[in-house]
Amino acid sequence: MKAQEWIERLPEQFVVYEITTISPNDYRGIVFTGMGGSGIVGDVLKLFLEKDGVRVPVLSLRGYELPPYVREGWLLVAISYSGNTEETLSVADEGIKRGLKVVCVSSGGKLREVAQREGLDFVEVPSNYAPRYAFGFMLSAVMSLFGKKDPIERIRKHLEESKGEIKETAYRIAQVVQNYIPIVYGTPLTEPIAFRWKTQVNENSKTLCYTATLPELHHNEVVGLDNPITRNLCHFIILWDPEDHPRVKRRVQITEELFKELGLAPIVLQGKGDTLEERLLYLAYLEDWVSFYLAEFYGYDPLPVKVIDRIKEALN
Ligand code: PA5
Repeated sequence: MKAQEWIERLPEQFVVYEITTISPNDYRGIVFTGMGGSGIVGDVLKLFLEKDGVRVPVLSLRGYELPPYVREGWLLVAISYSGNTEETLSVADEGIKRGLKVVCVSSGGKLREVAQREGLDFVEVPSNYAPRYAFGFMLSAVMSLFGKKDPIERIRKHLEESKGEIKETAYRIAQVVQNYIPIVYGTPLTEPIAFRWKTQVNENSKTLCYTATLPELHHNEVVGLDNPITRNLCHFIILWDPEDHPRVKRRVQITEELFKELGLAPIVLQGKGDTLEERLLYLAYLEDWVSFYLAEFYGYDPLPVKVIDRIKEALN
């Protein structure tokens, strides 16, 4: 099965691209744009750049439009695995019109044509994958663009060494959450990965899955637990990181206690690894396997996403 082979070999996708690097603080701001399996790359890079202390605003956009304040002097990184996603092409087009520095990342498609026609920087990732299974290639390409070469190599080594343990943990998690709607809670540092859990469960396991983030979820979401219907339908997973704000960590403990009082046993996880990058990618790789095993338990082939293809065709 192709999906399994791709997931199995994800660590190998973490390779340094030999490209000219960019210094983020040379721009007025940075915008990443992409959808679905490509959009996640911008979310993760935004977090990494902010953790590195970037001094300019960083946005990760999904949709057709650039905010009005994004002008000349900003950098736009347009990421579309296929190169044919209309929202991403629309933002790239707008960026060119406004005189932004635009860098395109894809395996080909219209985005490559635009880059060639307009003389833009273009980073090509290997073709013939499904977008969400090329996450490592796209993330490495964009990390390379910002000169984050050491972290790429560390991630690769770390995922290779942890794969056995990750697969075992993922299998146990999939056994626990099967027949429930998984609800994945993140923190400011794990939010993009919590979102990746949702999208991977959606696409690979063909199952609904939702996310919410601390501390915001302590101001609304938790009230929804009063109704036993919620408790019977959902299984909860909490992702956090040791570098989260101390009050966020306290809130993770409180959430756990709250769940226990309700007779629920949330799965509370932190990534393993010495650096934030390693820990977040550990959690992301864990999810690839959880969603894969869930698909197996439900009898689905994780690869096809027929309804996404149908919607794209309907828009043509
Ligand atoms: O995983 C998928 O197939 C989707 O989420 C796609 O990534 C999404 O539709 C956007 O396509 P692309 O990544 O080719 O821009």
